[in-house]
Amino acid sequence: MAEPCFNRSRTDFIPVARPSVTAAEVSAVVGAMRDVQLSQGPRVAEFESRFAAMHGCAHGASCNSGTSALQLAIEALGLRGKRIACPAMAMVAVPNAIISAGCTPVFVDSEPASGNVDLSQLDSISDSLAAAIVIHLYGVPVEFRASDWKFPILEDAAESHFGSFANGDQIGSRGAAACFSFFANKIITTAAGEGGIVTTNDQALAERVKLLRAHAFTAGEHFHHTEHAHGMRMGELAGAFGCAQLDRIMPMLLHRARLVKAYHHGLVGIEWLDHQCRPMGSANWVMPLMLANTNERFNVQFVREYLAAAGIETRRWFKPMHMQPHLEQFVLPGQEFDVAEDLWERGFYLPLFHDLEVADVERICATLRSI
Ligand SMILES: Cc1ncc(COP(=O)(O)O)c(C=O)c1O
Repeated sequence: MAEPCFNRSRTDFIPVARPSVTAAEVSAVVGAMRDVQLSQGPRVAEFESRFAAMHGCAHGASCNSGTSALQLAIEALGLRGKRIACPAMAMVAVPNAIISAGCTPVFVDSEPASGNVDLSQLDSISDSLAAAIVIHLYGVPVEFRASDWKFPILEDAAESHFGSFANGDQIGSRGAAACFSFFANKIITTAAGEGGIVTTNDQALAERVKLLRAHAFTAGEHFHHTEHAHGMRMGELAGAFGCAQLDRIMPMLLHRARLVKAYHHGLVGIEWLDHQCRPMGSANWVMPLMLANTNERFNVQFVREYLAAAGIETRRWFKPMHMQPHLEQFVLPGQEFDVAEDLWERGFYLPLFHDLEVADVERICATLRSI
C-alpha cells in the first residue's frame, strides 16, 4: 500500500515527530568539539550513568543505535545459536538483531487491548526458548515479572523512555537488561540522530556489552583480540547532546503529557476511533489510535490520506514480522497472528513531539472530526 503524499514545504505541515534542539544542546556539542573530544569520553560516561539511574538501573552501556543495543545485549547474554521469542507486532530491528546475533526469532501474537505481546502465548512455547524480548509498544509497559520466567527477558524500551510499570518500577529495570533507541524520532535523541543504550543492574553484563561494542580490546596488549566483536560505540558529541536533553527532561515530559491530554479532550466521542489501552505510567512517545472494529466507512489509508491533504503526517502501526518476506521462514507450522494483523489493519498514530503545540493538536483533532 503506497504511503500518502505530503507536501513538506507547506508552512503548516506537521511531521509525525521532530527532535527538540535548543541552545543548550548546541552549546553542549560545541563544548565537546572545543575540547577536541569527539570519540567516547567523559560526556558519554556521564550520559550512560545518568540515563541508567533515571531508569532504575546501576549500569548503562551506550552504543550507536537501538538495534545495536539489542544485538549487543543478546550476545552479552551468551545466547548465540538459541531461540529467542519476540512479538510479531514489532519493529523489524528486533528480529533483525536476533538474527545478527546468531539466534533464531520465534514470533508471538499480541493481546488486543494494548498490542503488547500476549504473555500467555509466550508461556505456551516457553520450553523451546532461551530468552524473550518484550517490547513496551508505543510506550505501554508489558507487565511481566522476571521471576515468573526460567529464561532471561530483555526489555525493548526503544519507545518508552521514562515510563513506569503499575507498581512504579521504571520501565527498563525489570528484565535482565533493557535496550533503548535514541533515533531522532524518540523521546530524547543525540547529536547524531542515532544512538542506543543497554541498561542493567548486572555489572558483568554491562561490562561485556562495553567490550563487545568496541572490538573486544583486551587489557594488556593493545591490539590483541580474543573474540569476534563490533565497532558500535556512541561518540562524545552524541553523549554531550544526550546530557543536555536529560537536563531538560522534566519540562519535556510534562509538555508531552499536556499534549496527550489535549488529544484525549479533542478526540472524545469520535465513534469510529478506538484508543490503545494505555495505563498510567505509559510513556508518551506517539499518539497511537486504531479504527474501531465496528467502523465500516473507511480504512486507515483513507484516514492517513485525508490527514496528509491537511498537512498532517501519520504512520501506520508496524506491519507484523511474519508478513515480512525475509522473516516468513521463521513462522512455525500452524502459527497464526490474527491480533497483530488486525492491529496493523486498523492502527495508526498521530504526531507527538516537544515542539508541537496544543493549538496543533486542536487542529489535528478538528481535521479528524471533519472526516
Ligand atoms: C521497538 C523498537 N525497537 C528497536 C528500534 C531500533 O532502534 P534504532 O532505530 O535506534 O536502531 C526501534 C526504532 O527505531 C523500535 O521502535
